[in-house]
Amino acid sequence: MRVLISRRRLQKKVKKLAGQISRDYRGKKLVLVGVLKGAFVFLSDLLREIKIPAEVDFIQVSSYGKRRTSSGKIKIKKGLDLPVAGKHVLIVEDIIDYGYTLAYLLKTIKAKSVRVCVLLDKPSRRKVRVPIAYRGFSIPDKFVVGYGLDYAEGYRSLPDVACIE
Ligand code: IMP
Ligand code: MG
Repeated sequence: MRVLISRRRLQKKVKKLAGQISRDYRGKKLVLVGVLKGAFVFLSDLLREIKIPAEVDFIQVSSYGKRRTSSGKIKIKKGLDLPVAGKHVLIVEDIIDYGYTLAYLLKTIKAKSVRVCVLLDKPSRRKVRVPIAYRGFSIPDKFVVGYGLDYAEGYRSLPDVACIE
């Protein structure tokens, strides 16, 4: 296990993203929608650095036990609880890989606006184009864990983002 992004760099980046989000959404009805489960740590840190009122909801998509889902196979496992029509949704995700998950959520969630905030991006693996409004770090094509991200449900509690060798 090797640390790729330290807790200190994560914290600084979260503050920076939260600052941008706070400015961009001032005076707007903002709903942060975390993608379960991986995004829950990132979302909880981000939320506490956002200086404007924001509602929080979660969504979960099926992955059929594999992380390499195909575009056709994605389904909503847990939908939104809050009404979001007339509100501005910011989808908060841990990592974008092929892009299928976020592409699906962007076309599925109906709100006044829907944008994406993603902590980690593996651009070299993208299969579909996804507009990303807020991006934390671009990383190489390595499998990463920690800060909410798992490998077989393990390692979510690591405070840093690390790669498995
Ligand atoms: P996409 O549809 O290929 O973009 O899938 C993104 C999803 O795959 C993320 O929400 C993660 O759950 C999972 N994933 C992709 N890469 C990693 C990784 O390196 N570590 C942990 N989960 C990952
Ligand atoms: Mg995820």
